This record gives sequence, structure tokens and C-alpha cells, in this order.
Amino acid sequence: MGVSRALLRYLVSLSLIIHAAVTTANFFKPFNVSYDHRALIIDGKRRMLISAGFHYPRATPEMWPDLIAKSKKGGADVIQTYVFWNGHEPVRGQYYFEGRYDIIKFVKLVGASGLYLHLRIGPYVCAEWNFGGFPVWLRDVPGIEFRTDNVPFKEEMERFVKKIVKLMQEEMLFSWQGGPIIMLQIENEYGDIESAYHQRGKEYVKWAAQMALGLGAGVPWVMCKQSDAPDNIINACNGYYCDGFKPNSPNKPVFWTEDWDGWYTKWGGRLPHRPAEDLAFAVARFFQRGGSFQNYYMYFGGTNFNRTSGGPFYVTSYDYDAPIDEYGLLSEPKWGHLKDLHAAIKLCEPALVAADSPQYIKLGPKQEAHVYHVDTNTEGLNLTQYGSQSRCSAFLANIDERKAAVVRFLGQTYHLPPWSVSILPDCRNTVFNTAKVGAQTSIKTVEFELPLFSNISACQQFTVHDEVSYFSKSWMTVKEPIGIWSKKIFSVQGILEHLNVTKDHSDYLWYITRIYVSDDDITFWEEKQVRPTLTIDSMRDVLRVFINGQLTGSVIGRWVKVVQPVRFVQGYNDLVLLSETVGLQNYGAFLEKDGAGFRGQIKLTGFKNGDIDLSTLSWTYQVGLKGEFSSIYTVEENEKAGWSDLTVDAIPATFTWYKVYLSLNMG
Ligand SMILES: *[C@@H]1O[C@H](CO)[C@@H](O)[C@H](O)[C@H]1NC(C)=O
Ligand SMILES: *[C@@H]1O[C@H](CO)[C@@H](O)[C@H](O)[C@H]1NC(C)=O
Ligand SMILES: *[C@@H]1O[C@H](CO)[C@@H](O)[C@H](O)[C@H]1NC(C)=O
Ligand SMILES: *[C@@H]1O[C@H](CO)[C@@H](O)[C@H](O)[C@H]1NC(C)=O
Ligand SMILES: *[C@@H]1O[C@H](CO)[C@@H](O)[C@H](O)[C@H]1NC(C)=O
Repeated sequence: MGVSRALLRYLVSLSLIIHAAVTTANFFKPFNVSYDHRALIIDGKRRMLISAGFHYPRATPEMWPDLIAKSKKGGADVIQTYVFWNGHEPVRGQYYFEGRYDIIKFVKLVGASGLYLHLRIGPYVCAEWNFGGFPVWLRDVPGIEFRTDNVPFKEEMERFVKKIVKLMQEEMLFSWQGGPIIMLQIENEYGDIESAYHQRGKEYVKWAAQMALGLGAGVPWVMCKQSDAPDNIINACNGYYCDGFKPNSPNKPVFWTEDWDGWYTKWGGRLPHRPAEDLAFAVARFFQRGGSFQNYYMYFGGTNFNRTSGGPFYVTSYDYDAPIDEYGLLSEPKWGHLKDLHAAIKLCEPALVAADSPQYIKLGPKQEAHVYHVDTNTEGLNLTQYGSQSRCSAFLANIDERKAAVVRFLGQTYHLPPWSVSILPDCRNTVFNTAKVGAQTSIKTVEFELPLFSNISACQQFTVHDEVSYFSKSWMTVKEPIGIWSKKIFSVQGILEHLNVTKDHSDYLWYITRIYVSDDDITFWEEKQVRPTLTIDSMRDVLRVFINGQLTGSVIGRWVKVVQPVRFVQGYNDLVLLSETVGLQNYGAFLEKDGAGFRGQIKLTGFKNGDIDLSTLSWTYQVGLKGEFSSIYTVEENEKAGWSDLTVDAIPATFTWYKVYLSLNMG
């Protein structure tokens, strides 16, 4: 038992540190992976596979072993992750594979646990991840256009994909080398935006497929949401329900790369929730109707550490209402209900893989059975002959959302709750119904222990407990300067594009200028009873307007118009615009053109002698916040910041850092 002192910001999660024995290779006896119209074929055998999606940089390496173990215990056969290009290549040509980006360690841990891995390289990944996983420097490659038939882009993409495939091969991580990797992915949901690129989009899809297949990775590749995926690439479904999905060739199996078991959260948005019963229904229906690979997106969502949240406006938490919550705790009854479902599906696996397709039997207006057995029909089906090998399995569905149903199936009567599937591994006994939750429901409690400030209403919802052993008597503060704070500034005439200046090293960009206001202007405004107005054609994500050091207005939105009345004094006025990004765009066509900050005309209107075009003025640029760049939030650096005790009178200030010490009882 030890007591440590830590900044509130770092009280993120506690986790068990398990030192897994990770050796260099050969987690499995080498095996080949291929596929037919029914399933993946692993070492010569068709398999029904349950996959748990989780992204290694959204947890800490200390959490990985426990998360993998919990996935396995929950019935997963496979772990699925994206590969995060902007994490692995922060500077062009300089790769990073340490810490949360130690993908080799992650893949080895998966292998050591006996699970397989589906590696979705992308390298565009969307993922509610900053810039969809693209490094921001990619914008600066001359002549580049992302995700289309564009030579500079294709060169960069190929270089990174090759790098990852080579790395995995060198580390002996493909199945045929005795590693866990059974499947890969190239691109990601490109079908959603392909039409924006016309013929060049089609060419790009063909190129991406050929490029991937040419790398000799030796395992199948998928493209998700890609109905024109070429031969030899499996086109897979993403969505809330995929039981009606048909791949674009009768030779391809039915795969579900993203089963959306929850959703992400936006600042100010609602916390999404998908009930365990509906999720289990969707999964059971998928296997009922011929599916053979299903991945939960997410099985563990985790946290967007540092500045990795995409956007705009996605929160730091990526909990996703997943079966394992952000802190690595089982989310019940979801986790347990799915575990029971997976066990039921596993009992059916021998019959599911033996049959080339299910036999359909209509049981009622909204009730149906799908039967998997090796005989050609169920006429005179002799169930006892299959014995414990259960070579006949059936799914009975009631897709009526409101009414329960009683159905007859192979001479027996079954009760089906509304919107449910019963699973009969021996075509006779129901071992699981998706609407009947047997798993325990647990209510998690999280206790906050913070000093009580009667003036800070946000704190009033927290109860102070007796157990708290230490926290500092008061909060401390330090003010953030408005505008220039460093020598690293420069001035140019005109408005520069936000990302072109920050290169995304910070969310914040200060634009600083001076406006001269004459006596005539003041008189004009007084007589007309008007105020001058700052107008910007279009802006994202957050704008703060300061005049003479005072916050005058804020605008929040994605490419919204700014019409902000302002107030000047006679003489020179400091006009400071703070442009903030809140997660770079991660979805959509033409990402390289999206950028951030301001677009179009930017002017002050309502002056006596007409509008002032602000793009003709000289502006000084300052990137970032002082506290941010001096790492004021770290244990090591924070003491240097010159903190003072927070007094009641000092609470409201525009830009202020706050800190408090408290103890963590790390039993
Ligand atoms: C995998 O397939 C390759 C190519 O067909 C073959 O040479 C190799 O022996 C196979 N490996 C295993 C373990 O079956
Ligand atoms: C940003 O910089 C690039 C050059 O790196 C330039 O091509 C582009 O026009 C700039 N964007 C804007 C909006 O100024
Ligand atoms: C994330 O932030 C922490 C704390 O500032 C820093 O130590 C770490 O290097 C950052 N990690 C990455 C990958 O940027
Ligand atoms: C069903 O199969 C078993 C085992 O092969 C056999 O003993 C039994 O007579 C068969 N029943 C019918 C009705 O054909
Ligand atoms: C803040 O709290 C102090 C002490 O409880 C009280 O005297 C004061 O009126 C409060 N101020 C406001 C603005 O609520």
C-alpha cells in the first residue's frame, strides 16, 4: 500500500500491471489462412469468429494484458485494431513505436494469449481520431490529394503500409510465421466518399487493392463498406445490423468488421447507450443468416489521450458504451450477456461450418428459423444421429418488436420473446435467447473526493467522504496571458490558415493586430447608436475575440459565419483573435482541403469610412498557450509556474489554470 501525490489531471485510471511472458515469435504452430464463400479457413478449417475491437493507443501498455484477457474470457477469438499512422510517424520518415504506440508488443501480447489479430492498417482509419489518423504533415506534401488517384498520396500511403507489413513480417507475426495475424484491412469505409472522386475514386480502389495484395502478407485483406472491392479482397459490412448484408461476390464470406455496440460522444452531447439485448439480437441474427466473422466496435473503447480526439468536438473519453468500459472494468450486463451469447454460438460452430448455407423455414408472419445441418433438408431429419457432435444447429427468430410468439419447430413448441433469437445448438434445446439476460447487472460507483467550494457549483454535486486522507487546503491558480507570451512570434500581412501555422502542435493560434479608431468613428457610432461588427465568412471550431485584453465574444461551430458586435475606444485598440481546434476533422472527402480557422472575407464593418478588410492588415502570430508549452500540467514542471492561492474574488478570469493536490490511496 502506498500513497502518491498526483495532479488531478492524471487521476485517470488504475490498472493491474501484468508482466506477460512475451517471447520473440511462434505463438502458434504456423498456419495458413484463406477463405471461401462461407468463412475464414484457418489451418484448413472453416471458423465462426467473434472479434473484440480495441485500439492499443486508447489504453496504456499496462492495461493491455488485462484487456486482452477480459476479451478472451468474454468469448473473443480475435482482437481487432486499427493502425494509427499519425502516432507512428509524427514527423515524416521518423517512426515511433514506443509506449502506447508499441504495436509490436501489443500484437505479441495478443499472440501470447492465444487470440488471433485482425490488423486494419488503413492507413486512413477515421476512428474519431485526430485527422482520421493522417499525420498533419501529409497536407504539406506538394501536389497531394488524399484518398484518390494521386501520385504523391499513393506514394506516401504505400510507404507506410509497406512499413507496417514489413515490420509484422520481421517480427514473425503473421499466421504462416506462427504469429496471431490472420487478416488485414486496406482503406476504410471509402465507399462512403468514393462518388466525390468520380472515376479517380474507382481507380484508387483498384490501386489500393493491388498494392495491398502485392505486399505478400500471406493473409486475406478486407475493405469495409466497399461494394466495388476487387476480387481477392473481402468487402465487409459496418453498421448496427448486418444480417442482411451480401458481399459483392458469391465466393466471398459474410463479414461484419464493425458492429456498433454504442457510439462516441461529443462535447455537450448525450451519452449513447445500446442495450445488451438488442446487441445480442443483432449478433445472433448475423450468424443465423450466414455471417461468420463479427467484430464489436468497440469491445473496449478507452481514452483519447493527449490530443488524439478527432472531430470536431469529440470528447476525451472513447468509452463507446462498450462491454469493457473506459477504465477497463466489465460493463454489465453487456459483457456477461455477450459472453453467454458467444458460448451458445460456439456450441453451434460444428454445424455452422459444416453447412454451406442455412435452410430457411418460415415459422410465422414475423418468425423464422435458419437450420444448419449437413443433410439436404429437414424432412425426416434424424436428430439423434448427430449426438453430442451437434451437427444440426438452429436459430429461431421473432423479429416482431412488440409481440411474443409461440412457434412450432421440428415437432416442438418454442416461446419467443419480442425482438429475440433463440439458439438451439442441437436443433432441439434452447440454450440462449437474446432477450433474456442472465448476466448480473452491476452498478458501478465512482466516488469523487474534492475540496468543497461553496462558490463553485460544479463541485457541489460531489460528496466529501471521510476516507479521504489528504488534499491541499485550496485550489491554486495561474493566469494564462492573452496573446503574445513567447519570442517565437512572427508578423505578416494577412490572415494565414490555422493549420499552416500551428502544424497541429497546439490547438491554439493567436492572431494579434491593432485597430485605430478615430474620434469621428466614436461620434458616428454614438449618433447612429450602432456598434462596429467583426464578420468572418466561415470559421471552425472555436473563436474567442479579445479587445484590449477583455473577452468580447466566443463562437463555436464547424464552418459557421461570425457576426460579432465589438466595442472600441478612441485611439489604438488591441484586437486579438484566438482560433482553437477541438479535434481535427476525421471523416469526409477532401480532408486535406478542410483545414481549420478562418475562411473567406474577414472584416470590421460599421466604420464611418467604410469596412476595414482585416486581411490587409499586419498580424502577429503566436502558436499555443504558455502553460501548455511549459507543461504546466506535469508533475515535473508545474512548480515553476508561479501559482497563487485561489481566492473567492479571483475565481472568474478568462484564461486560468487551476490545480489541487490530492492523495491517491493505491491499495
Ligand atoms: C501455407 O501455404 C503455403 C503456400 O501454399 C505452403 O507452402 C505452406 O506449406 C503452407 N503452410 C502451412 C503451415 O500449411
Ligand atoms: C497552406 O500551405 C500550403 C503549402 O504548404 C498552401 O498550398 C496552401 O494554399 C495554404 N493554405 C491556405 C489556406 O493558405
Ligand atoms: C502525451 O502527453 C504526455 C504528458 O504531457 C507526454 O508525456 C507524452 O509524451 C505525450 N505522448 C505523446 C505520444 O505525445
Ligand atoms: C436415427 O439415427 C440413429 C443413429 O444413427 C438410429 O439408431 C435411429 O434408428 C434413427 N431414427 C430414425 C427414426 O431413423
Ligand atoms: C462565496 O462564498 C463565500 C463564503 O461562503 C460567501 O461569503 C460569498 O457570498 C460567496 N460568493 C458568491 C458569489 O456566491
